[in-house]
Amino acid sequence: MREPIDAVGVGLLGFGTVGAEVYRLLRDHGDLVQQRVGIPITVQKVAVADRRKPRAQPIPPHLLATDAWEVVTDPTVHVVVEVMGGVEGARLFVLRALDLGKPVVTANKQLLSHFGGDLLARARASNADLFFEGTVGSCIPLIKTLRESLAADRIRGVEGILNGTTNYILTRMSEEAWTFEQALAAARARGFAEADPTEDIEGHDAAAKLAILASLAFDCQITADRVYREGIGSITPREIAYARELGYAVKLLALGEDRDGAIDVRVHPALLPLAHPLAAISDERNAVLVKGEAAGSVVFSGPGAGGPPTAVAVVSDIIDAARNLRRCGGARILLPSFASRPIHPISDLTIPYFFAMQVTDRPGVFAKVAAVFGEESVSIASIVQKSRGAVADVVLLTHEAQEAAVRRVTNRLRTMEVVGGVDSVIRVVE
Ligand code: HSE
Repeated sequence: MREPIDAVGVGLLGFGTVGAEVYRLLRDHGDLVQQRVGIPITVQKVAVADRRKPRAQPIPPHLLATDAWEVVTDPTVHVVVEVMGGVEGARLFVLRALDLGKPVVTANKQLLSHFGGDLLARARASNADLFFEGTVGSCIPLIKTLRESLAADRIRGVEGILNGTTNYILTRMSEEAWTFEQALAAARARGFAEADPTEDIEGHDAAAKLAILASLAFDCQITADRVYREGIGSITPREIAYARELGYAVKLLALGEDRDGAIDVRVHPALLPLAHPLAAISDERNAVLVKGEAAGSVVFSGPGAGGPPTAVAVVSDIIDAARNLRRCGGARILLPSFASRPIHPISDLTIPYFFAMQVTDRPGVFAKVAAVFGEESVSIASIVQKSRGAVADVVLLTHEAQEAAVRRVTNRLRTMEVVGGVDSVIRVVE
């Protein structure tokens, strides 16, 4: 049992986009926060890597700590808020805080998706809270929903758009026919992209978020490196336009499914029927569809990136931690079991596929292309061919086919003299 306290002190590790907004929200919504906790919450210490860096939101000098250890061990800091990013340093500071019995709030998806099991085990051992709503979908209530609101259900699947930057890029390419480069530059200018935007483009960011969601949804431990991942680098406005003609939107999807005793976890571009609830999610918005055995499908959507929405998630977690501290307890939230579960190999996946390719426009070519599909037992469902002079664009949809067979078809097509290029092969989610 902890001693009762009459104010909750917060220590901030990091004062970047999210940290500065957390500070601002705790200040500007201080009366509301106090009303909801019953006692005030104040920032006591802030640790930053570069004290001289100019900041839009200045840090009052008396709050500046010499280093993160000072924040973690300060007796007036009751709740440690990790918004510094990076993995190794953050992991050590979070572990130390938990060992001291201090609740931790973090928005660090890379940390959680690689070391969440260890951190939650340490939180459990110390009876300290570890909250991480800001790691996935900023303020969209996903973590609490899985840990609390849907705790009574067996979750069978999660499908989501979990990266704001790539959704923004795909939306602009689709609606304005922008090039990939134009759309990426605009996403960076608007502050959604990671410091290294390949994290977004190549799907690492979405894979980390899916690992966190899938671990909670399926009550096991899935680290980010176990998520199959492909980015959006090969998607062009032309494929997006053809997909739309066939009645589909192109999205970077994160999919998790508990099926036949194993878990399917993958992040890749996908064609979604235009009537699918995730197809209309545009720009930097995120959305997640959770399929519960008893609850059925539940959809959550909202802003998935940006300082102010993420700060709402972080400060709401601080409020939760503060309420627990006030009642002298902690760790009242359901923790996952950390069980290890087998993962379905991607080669076994059996779904429909979309092909976009260029072929020489002369008699007999189409028959040669179709023969390759037939020989690999991949059945064509529909096909569109548009001549552009000497070459023709061929766009086709297959019936359900095994990923391994689709890869064989693709490799064979790429060696054919009559095939100028296979621009993309995209999985279809029905
Ligand atoms: N770069 C991330 C995104 C920020 O675009 O979704 C939020 O995690």
